[in-house]
Amino acid sequence: MTDGVAFIDGEYVSPDEAKVSIFDIGFSRGDAVYDTVSAWKGYFFRLDDHVARFLRSCAGARLTCPHPPEEVKRILATCVHRAGLEDAYVQMIVTRGRFPSGGPRDPRLCQNRFVGFALPYIWIISPERQETGIDLALVENRRTPTEAIDPRIKNFNWMDLQRGLFEALDRGADTAVLLTPAGYLSEGPGFNLFLVREGVILTPRTNVLEGITRATVFDLAREAGVPVQEADLRPDALRSADEAFLSSTAGGIMPVTRVDGEPLGTGRPGPLTMRLRRLYWDKREAGWRGTAVKDLLV
Ligand SMILES: Cc1ncc(COP(=O)(O)O)c(C=O)c1O
Repeated sequence: MTDGVAFIDGEYVSPDEAKVSIFDIGFSRGDAVYDTVSAWKGYFFRLDDHVARFLRSCAGARLTCPHPPEEVKRILATCVHRAGLEDAYVQMIVTRGRFPSGGPRDPRLCQNRFVGFALPYIWIISPERQETGIDLALVENRRTPTEAIDPRIKNFNWMDLQRGLFEALDRGADTAVLLTPAGYLSEGPGFNLFLVREGVILTPRTNVLEGITRATVFDLAREAGVPVQEADLRPDALRSADEAFLSSTAGGIMPVTRVDGEPLGTGRPGPLTMRLRRLYWDKREAGWRGTAVKDLLV
């Protein structure tokens, strides 16, 4: 196993060697989209869904992925394979590229660039911390309005999420949940949010990324016979919930046990949360909705 492999400028290199130009507008203006997929025990999870979302993000940002989807999958699989990883955090990125030298600053003229990489699997909240549960801060900084940057386009403009994360960490919490400009719950840095109230699972309806793990929670809940609703939720709905959890490619389904330092529900990871979490990992271990990395190699 290595510390990862990146694909850039047509070459597979070590993470340290993977460098973009300071003149790439993806760097200087955050003009880039990406998607993160994971591999577990040698299987990508819902790879086609991640690639499809990636291509929608590209289209939404008027970026063109220079490789067709089958090639993107092959490149990512090659990164995982060359890194010698079974459990991996894998990203595909398209950046705007450079303005033509001496030419007009017209983003339509830029040649868009693809970067991919595989790193050892990343947990946004460590498995140990998940045992006791996450302390979530409801932060002042609002999520960027959908009308300005549609969060369904998975993009590099993370200033709102980063500011929220700083605020949460400074307050001693593990991570942050941001509100929409209208004051409803949205999401946090790298995850979607769920509540459980009287046996019903609720999740914010607007101003959120349509997470693949979020969609997976819908599937698992349906399978377990638990109703799920997307709704406009006020912060009090979180504070008074029976249970809450986060969902992300980088960590799966993760229990919340405190909000702004106050215990949520019983103050311990909730039973429905833990049931869904177990289902998620058991099914992943069994290769559910998986694509074997080795099947994509040429
Ligand atoms: C802002 C945001 N919301 C939600 C998610 C979770 O999405 P997924 O389940 O597809 O990883 C992410 C993932 O990185 C994210 O960045």
